[in-house]
Amino acid sequence: MTMSEIHIAGTGIWYPDEIISNDEIVNSFNTYVDNFNKDNQDKINNGELLPLEYSSSAFIEKASGIKNRRVIDKKNILDINKMMPCVKHEDESRLSIHAVAGINAAKKAMKQANVSASDIDGVILGTSHAARNYPSVAIEIQNELGIDGYAYDMLVGCSSTTFAINNAYSDIASGLAKNILVINPEISTPFVNYTKRDIHFIFGDGCVATIVTNQKNSDNCYKILDRKLITKFSNNIRSDWSYLVRAADDEKSIEDLLFYQNGNSVFKEVCPMVAEFITNQLSDNNIQPNEISKFWLHQANARMVNLIVSKVIGTDDFDTSLAPLPIQEFGNLASAGSMFAFNLHNDLETGDKGIICSFGAGYSVCSIIVEKL
Ligand SMILES: CC(C)(COP(=O)(O)OP(=O)(O)OC[C@H]1O[C@@H](n2cnc3c(N)ncnc32)[C@H](O)[C@@H]1OP(=O)(O)O)[C@@H](O)C(=O)NCCC(=O)NCCS
Repeated sequence: MTMSEIHIAGTGIWYPDEIISNDEIVNSFNTYVDNFNKDNQDKINNGELLPLEYSSSAFIEKASGIKNRRVIDKKNILDINKMMPCVKHEDESRLSIHAVAGINAAKKAMKQANVSASDIDGVILGTSHAARNYPSVAIEIQNELGIDGYAYDMLVGCSSTTFAINNAYSDIASGLAKNILVINPEISTPFVNYTKRDIHFIFGDGCVATIVTNQKNSDNCYKILDRKLITKFSNNIRSDWSYLVRAADDEKSIEDLLFYQNGNSVFKEVCPMVAEFITNQLSDNNIQPNEISKFWLHQANARMVNLIVSKVIGTDDFDTSLAPLPIQEFGNLASAGSMFAFNLHNDLETGDKGIICSFGAGYSVCSIIVEKL
């Protein structure tokens, strides 16, 4: 139930300049495979080791919809002697990598929402991977932008963005704040294992920022009609990297601590769960599925987006503009994907309704129904 009029009044996105195409990522991976199989020829021949198999651009596009991804360090990701971006340790002498991306996106969101730093009461930063433990990057950004009030970081995997928007809504509805800046940096490439065939192609880097407010200072306002959240524990998407690594006395390599997933199980479990979730939310709000002009869904896989939308609206015969797919050009942007879609495909008319919905690690799902003012 909507307690007061609360809006998404502006969004901004940041993404790196460098682009890696499917052919480029596959070339690098397949060269790694050739080298690995050559170096381990004896073990492979006597059955001790299985040879690695090639990746392919055709598979990637068909299985995921991804054509390109934006990354912070193309050269080192593609270099088969490195196969990861090069970054610097977090250090007090410079801004966090998340803060740099966040400030960039935040300034655009603030401009679109027509708010300045002095209007903002709080900064909520949600991400899948914290750059450090503390101080909160949100507080660093708050300081850098000259914002009063409070700021904090939160982690909810692929739903960090929508859950953060939800927290902003709750703070505004309860009277704690009027304007909140939500920031979602997803610098994912450092945790991708580029030597793994089933995941080397998935992620890109990017950041989105959103102004949530009870004011109407912008001509790009979307009223939040309803929010619905659910979590259900699953080990199918995990990243075990943590501060405990230094003290752990059982054996795990760094590779074992990176992102991994049972992609196929995620696909099979999450699609029906999300389709039912959205269907129930629409019914609870007396909204017919065909009243939804835009589905800004989590960008993990184009087939997942299309399957969920077709289950909700009851047909797979729909215009692609109904459910935008920035994943094609940006890759999976973890929690930032649904709001990237919102930012890039924002052409609704007054009174039109849309759904922003994330789903992923946790599992975690958050669906937000909005109406263009
Ligand atoms: C990851 C994902 C794209 C893989 O697609 P998929 O169709 O499920 O692929 P599968 O893992 O079932 O593999 C299908 C086949 O392709 C092969 N394959 C896997 N990766 C490949 C690659 N890079 N190139 C060529 N073939 C590949 C597999 O070995 C398998 O072969 P087999 O049928 O002979 O066993 C897909 O499962 C997905 O996106 N899932 C959801 C992920 C998600 O939401 N994650 C949340 C994180 S934010």
